[in-house]
Amino acid sequence: MAEQDDTYNQILNNAMVSDSNFLTDIILRECGDVFLGINSLIDVGGGHGGAARAIANAFPQMKCTVLDLPHVIAEAPSDVHVSFISGDMFKYIPPANALFLKGI
Ligand SMILES: C[S@@+](CC[C@H](N)C(=O)[O-])C[C@H]1O[C@@H](n2cnc3c(N)ncnc32)[C@H](O)[C@@H]1O
Repeated sequence: MAEQDDTYNQILNNAMVSDSNFLTDIILRECGDVFLGINSLIDVGGGHGGAARAIANAFPQMKCTVLDLPHVIAEAPSDVHVSFISGDMFKYIPPANALFLKGI
């Protein structure tokens, strides 16, 4: 549906960012030490980067990248701390120290 209906795509992506803004702060506060020592992270199916942005802000040395489908990445906001890659996780995931999957 998101691929075929742009309004639905926008609503879904915005909702996911709101959810990630809320939850990632808690994840970082309660168990943020799991990210220590990680230099690069791919948020697989990371939408518009709500979680990746929060992780990158908490760990500025970490290279954070979001991988998501083309119709999602096409409308992702640019961000100096987070890179966005368009693709299908079943076909290719770029190499990184860690893969983060939330709500896929
Ligand atoms: C429920 S949303 C969760 C977004 C984000 N992980 C979060 O928790 O806020 C699921 C995401 O997975 C993405 N997705 C689904 N299938 C995918 C695939 N084959 N490759 C990459 N991303 C995919 C969707 O486009 C969507 O952005």
